[in-house]
Amino acid sequence: MLDWTELEAQCLSCQRCALADARHHVVFGVGVRDAEVMLIGEGPGENEDLQGQPFVGRGGQLLDEMLELIDLSREKNVYIANIVKCRPPHNRDPLNTEQDACIDYLRNQVALIRPRIIVCLGRIAAMRLIKPDFKITREHGLWFEKSGVSMMAMFHPAAILRDPSRRPDTFMDLKSLQAKIREVCTHTYQ
Ligand code: URA
Repeated sequence: MLDWTELEAQCLSCQRCALADARHHVVFGVGVRDAEVMLIGEGPGENEDLQGQPFVGRGGQLLDEMLELIDLSREKNVYIANIVKCRPPHNRDPLNTEQDACIDYLRNQVALIRPRIIVCLGRIAAMRLIKPDFKITREHGLWFEKSGVSMMAMFHPAAILRDPSRRPDTFMDLKSLQAKIREVCTHTYQ
């Protein structure tokens, strides 16, 4: 396991898969490094690739608004990262080979942060981190325990923008997250 400085340096110069060729920036992750809550998306989009930060486009603005509803923010008490750190072309889903090449960076981030709660944003992260046959429409908002970490998935912000009828379900999932934080976290709401 690498420390933050070594891990970030290695990740920023990564050439482990072909996504390195077209990237403007590696999107390493952002937020509080002693957070008890980690949020994990699938991979950078266009804005994220240009700015080097996760969730900065319209979906990112929605994510920040959703988090604000339950008193969470990337400045204060969560860490946000992705399964793959470089943008897949045309925002396609990251290939399994790309995920395999990249996943150790995320595992190292999780090992350094040691979160109590991991929230997967969307199907791709949930299939990778919770279980391969995860069904987001049926299983969003449900809690899974893995190695002492409470895990759940919510709809991806981009999916909520595409289909606003997912908002009420997402609000319930956020309330469930808030309740889980009160149950298992010690300093998130200090
Ligand atoms: N979608 C993701 O899954 N991650 C980002 O960082 C941005 C959009």
